[in-house]
Amino acid sequence: MSDRLFVFDTTLRDGEQVPGCQLNTIEKIEVARALEVLGVDVIEAGFPISSPGDFNSVREISKAVTWPTICALTRAVEKDIEVAADALLYAKKKRIHTGIGVSYYHIHHKLKSTPDEIIERAVAAVKYARKFVEDVEFYAEDAGRADNEYLARVIEAVIKAGATTVNIPDTTGYCLPTEYGAKIKYLCDNVRGIENAIIATHCHNDLGMATANTMAGVINGARQVEVTINGIGERAGNTSLEEVAMILRCHKGLGVDTNINTQKITEVSRMVSNLMNMPVQPNKAIVGRNAFAHSSGIHQDGVLKYRENYEIIDPKEIGLDESSIVLTARSGRAALKHRLELLGFMLDGEELDKIYDEFLKLADKKKDIRDEDLLILAGDTTGTGRGKIRIKRLQVLAGTLLPTAAVVLDINGTEFTASATGNGPVDAAVTAIKSVVGKQVLIREFLIQAMTKGSNDVGRVHIQIQHLESNHLVHGFAAHTDVVRAAVEAFVDGLNKLMNLEEK
Ligand code: KIV
Ligand code: ZN
Repeated sequence: MSDRLFVFDTTLRDGEQVPGCQLNTIEKIEVARALEVLGVDVIEAGFPISSPGDFNSVREISKAVTWPTICALTRAVEKDIEVAADALLYAKKKRIHTGIGVSYYHIHHKLKSTPDEIIERAVAAVKYARKFVEDVEFYAEDAGRADNEYLARVIEAVIKAGATTVNIPDTTGYCLPTEYGAKIKYLCDNVRGIENAIIATHCHNDLGMATANTMAGVINGARQVEVTINGIGERAGNTSLEEVAMILRCHKGLGVDTNINTQKITEVSRMVSNLMNMPVQPNKAIVGRNAFAHSSGIHQDGVLKYRENYEIIDPKEIGLDESSIVLTARSGRAALKHRLELLGFMLDGEELDKIYDEFLKLADKKKDIRDEDLLILAGDTTGTGRGKIRIKRLQVLAGTLLPTAAVVLDINGTEFTASATGNGPVDAAVTAIKSVVGKQVLIREFLIQAMTKGSNDVGRVHIQIQHLESNHLVHGFAAHTDVVRAAVEAFVDGLNKLMNLEEK
């Protein structure tokens, strides 16, 4: 049985401090609910004294979320603590997170104080917070650069005053993993009463060591990690939740685990990235676009033979369908065959050789080989790209009235007519087509991309369809200046691929 590591998510506080990442209350509630489903233990919902908006968000998140503890940040100031307690009024489980700077820099140059006075203020803040809530976390700001002996005195005093969690932030992201790990060990070995509190890590990524430092802290006795989704946060960010969760799943020998439902990681990562307008760097561990993309022929062949040859994590574990094989001039036949199969073309022998030769010529000229390119290559050679379903007429009604669509389809020479309503013209048309075709299909991905720019631009649509009975996945493509028409044609293109595939 593993030791339990508590996950304290500060996406909505440290993460939201990032310029341009601000969310409104509704969006924060959406993120908080997603964090609850993800299985985090504590949600730091905001810094209530900082603005009426933050106060309101902590209040509303407290009402919206059931299982995790809701935490509110304060300085070691009575008014902050009172406002935080008020904001937490409706939380089922509540925590006040109070603290003060403890490094030489903070004591002398920020707070213009003395080490003894800082301890007095820290103790007073914790005692005051305990009047409102039982669960009080103390943060020793800039602990990463603080003297360990002094830090131990502060931590001992706040635990005696009633702190139930003690947070040791590497606020400036300065520590080396060995140094940070030794700091946590020093506290475990030298603070009287440390067994009465949980030690928390809170590491920033200024030198790219946030996750390594967090892990060093855990290995040396910390049992709470303060993290954010995608590692967002002040400056270079905070430790990322997904990295810590997956490190512990990959290294079971450490004997420590979290409550995180890792299959939700991709979904929550994308949600936070979209809401906060903060793209994830393509090579970001676990959630980057390339984290499971294989591009060299040797790796592709290895992964297709046995996934674990080049992958330490099964993409399904983080909620991704599968790793991707990126086609380049260095890709081999195995990768091309695999990709074509996903597109609905089962090719072997001479047929495959012929397409592979064409593919290599194209890949030499074009860096980015897309599915559309392969479809043209495959269609040219095999003729299977042509469809059995053809759209003869499409009429949609969009706007503020109930979106409606009417379609006339030709299926193998017979004409069918259908109409339906939907939450938009595409949804209405797709529903009408499904009622005629009679296949249980689910649209897994729907992407519209402008080819260049301007309102008269051509929209390129890519749809991924899953057949719920056979589980086959196919891709449909189309492009048109009318994006609704392009979307419906892409859907029909996908249906045709599915029919081709299932006839084989
Ligand atoms: O980085 C830091 O020190 C903080 C504290 C407020 C916990 O974010
Ligand atoms: Zn921080």
